[in-house]
Amino acid sequence: MKTLIKNGRVVTAVDDYYGDILVEGEFITLIGKNLEVEADKLIDARDKLVIPGGIDAHTHLDMPFGGTTSADDFRTGTLAAAHGGTTTIIDFAIQAKGQSIMAALDTWHKKADGKASIDYGFHMIATDLSQPEHLSEMKRLINGEGVTSFKLFMAYPGVLLVDDATIFRAMSLAGQEGALICMHAENGVVINEIVARALAEGRTAPKYHALTRPTKAEAEGVNRAIALAEMAESPVYIVHLSCYDALKKVKEARDAGVPAFAETCPQYLFLDYSHYEGADFEGAKYVMTPPLREKWNQEELWTGLRMNDLQVISTDHCPFCFKEQKELGKDDFSKIPNGGPGVENRMSLVYNGGVVGSRISLNRFVELTSTAAAKIFGLFPRKGTIAVGSDADIVIFNPKKKETISARTHHMNVDYNCYEGMEVQGVAETVISRGRLVIENGNYVGSPGSGQFLKRSTVQLR
Ligand code: URP
Ligand code: ZN
Ligand code: ZN
Repeated sequence: MKTLIKNGRVVTAVDDYYGDILVEGEFITLIGKNLEVEADKLIDARDKLVIPGGIDAHTHLDMPFGGTTSADDFRTGTLAAAHGGTTTIIDFAIQAKGQSIMAALDTWHKKADGKASIDYGFHMIATDLSQPEHLSEMKRLINGEGVTSFKLFMAYPGVLLVDDATIFRAMSLAGQEGALICMHAENGVVINEIVARALAEGRTAPKYHALTRPTKAEAEGVNRAIALAEMAESPVYIVHLSCYDALKKVKEARDAGVPAFAETCPQYLFLDYSHYEGADFEGAKYVMTPPLREKWNQEELWTGLRMNDLQVISTDHCPFCFKEQKELGKDDFSKIPNGGPGVENRMSLVYNGGVVGSRISLNRFVELTSTAAAKIFGLFPRKGTIAVGSDADIVIFNPKKKETISARTHHMNVDYNCYEGMEVQGVAETVISRGRLVIENGNYVGSPGSGQFLKRSTVQLR
């Protein structure tokens, strides 16, 4: 199958030019001006941007959490991602306490097998590294299974939290093997104390989720994660960074030459604490961890993105329906499953708020939504760019088209949208994943199961 994309404005993290792209099979095989090549499919990209498929490095599909399971599985979640211009996700497999890491990986392969419309990789959430076998399994994942990053939690005591010794052990191994530790950096032990106090005083509404998770608890986690990584001689990647207090710690470390990396998410750039004050139980829709912060943090995060103190925008897509799932915490905010949807809206939100809003350049938009994640997580240059030899993961993006975000029209399997009613300019119209059309003029034309598991390489981030 040959596809010729003509007359588009091709934008990568470093390039910006008008040209034609030939796709043969799964790969980009030729780039040039006025290409005269016979093709099975011609796509006219005049007046459109031609950009690398988005990479969302943080999703939770089909994940048991908070007494229920996230509402998107690999079929619906990857289809929704494709609609939004994302062609790769990196999802989180979870080692249950006491479980072997290989068994956990196997479980997640079975969840995804035959369902995905776009390519996917896995990070491994490690919850138990007490035995020598666990460290051997980590090595096997890194060197044989293509799982080269691990998430550790400083939050959720008794569920996912691991102690500093475990973190240090994992970081030491990651540093030696060229893997990366992704840290959920929040002091969960102190947070649990504050939560218990609030509940004992009858403060049970959704807004107390935010009021019991201070920014200092996140900043302390970030500070500790970076210090542990320095002692272990390992890089570290802070996930879902939400606020200025935490950003300051990353910036301080980076200014000192420490290999600390961090992502933020659209919810922290576009939503704020006031969403918890909605009538009735509405605030539950925004119960996610870390919580939404005071609005003034948003411009600080944009500055961090501009200055490269933050390198990636992922979604932390972890959808739970308002009905029945979020309602589990009707009388107790601590029982509301933590997480929100967003995989479908990321590219449009960031383009609109970033490029249309004059906060970042077009090249930086591509870097933040695709290229940087490919580099950090061992997928570059196969993914994250438009170049001869790269996978043909390409988005034809209409920079002028406007759309109003709504649960009525989205494709995520969840009954609300955090950005309901927000108008965005910039829409993914046609999406190609490894040479196959998945979305054509806004319509799904892909097939579940055509997305492949990606074995990622180790990375040198120093
Ligand atoms: O609220 C969130 N973020 N849910 C997903 C789990 C996590 O910590 O990323
Ligand atoms: Zn987390
Ligand atoms: Zn997450």
